[in-house]
Amino acid sequence: MDILHYQKDFINYLESKKWVNEPKNLYEPIDYIIKLGGKRMRPILTLMAADIFSESYEKAMPAALAVEVFHNFTLIHDDIMDDAPLRRGKETVHEKWDLNTGILSGDAMLILAYQYFENYEPIVFQKLAKLFSKTALEVCDGQQLDVDFETRNDVTIDEYINMIRLKTSVLVAAALKMGAIVAETSDENANLIYEFGLNLGIAFQLQDDYLDTFGDPKTFGKQIGGDIIENKKTYMYLKALEVASEDDKRKLYFFYNQKIEDNWIKINEVTQIFEQNNIPVLIKEQIKDYTEKAFETLFSMNISKENKQGLRNFGLWLMNRSV
Ligand code: IPE
Ligand code: IPE
Ligand code: MG
Ligand code: MG
Ligand code: MG
Repeated sequence: MDILHYQKDFINYLESKKWVNEPKNLYEPIDYIIKLGGKRMRPILTLMAADIFSESYEKAMPAALAVEVFHNFTLIHDDIMDDAPLRRGKETVHEKWDLNTGILSGDAMLILAYQYFENYEPIVFQKLAKLFSKTALEVCDGQQLDVDFETRNDVTIDEYINMIRLKTSVLVAAALKMGAIVAETSDENANLIYEFGLNLGIAFQLQDDYLDTFGDPKTFGKQIGGDIIENKKTYMYLKALEVASEDDKRKLYFFYNQKIEDNWIKINEVTQIFEQNNIPVLIKEQIKDYTEKAFETLFSMNISKENKQGLRNFGLWLMNRSV
């Protein structure tokens, strides 16, 4: 089935819920972030997996909602940690309200996410909760590494890949596996679809990093250059250090070892160094490689050709996005 069909169904389900309760100051920010839009890619993946491994995907709706609410919670806290002003083209929660609101509304969302699992029978419930707890902790590990890397000068590309596997890709993989769990398919199927999601998730975060510098501010919805301002040790930065001239390397070290007043100069200089060193081409190759790697797991999966094509289309949709 079409990706947009799952998306529409999911949004209808999400909008049928009542999000605002008392105290309003806790729930209004939740309602705000959850209805702010976004691609809804994780719930789409949960529904797709459930559809592939069973007759209906309807029963995967609460699990899909759990993933999306959890994801939106991580966004609120991530925007605090990254000092980000914009999310999905609008003010971030901690900017619109304040820091304390962002912290507590985020906490409540994490708990809400777990509550949706109460819709499932004990065996499925336990499997979902177990996977979810493992995944959520890994996301914290990844987020901490991401922050630690900001002030380190010896981060390797391998360490970076491991960090994005943790902060981003395990949730993409878990979203798919949760669909497989709800569908009560074999462990083998569930593990293969998880593997597919891991590689797709890495490609997805590489692309997110690329768009953070080279995306169109009109469509991307986040502050362009935010990663550069925050000294994020992305693949682009690490690769540039590998291939650039001594002079460019010195400049990169200079800019990434401080927070300067004039971010505009920093963003411009760093972007230019990336461009002059062919970094946009090199990162796009990496994105393609990880997407291809994800597609390779499809070969060993015992599902129909149409379903494989559906998952491929999803990967291609992600790779060609501007949002
Ligand atoms: C943003 O995720 C956070 C990352 C892991 C890069 P998405 O790009 O899926 O954000 P939305 O939900 O579509 O806004
Ligand atoms: C975020 O990575 C990963 C999580 C939210 C856990 P980023 O910091 O790159 O995400 P964006 O770019 O702010 O969406
Ligand atoms: Mg961020
Ligand atoms: Mg971040
Ligand atoms: Mg980003």
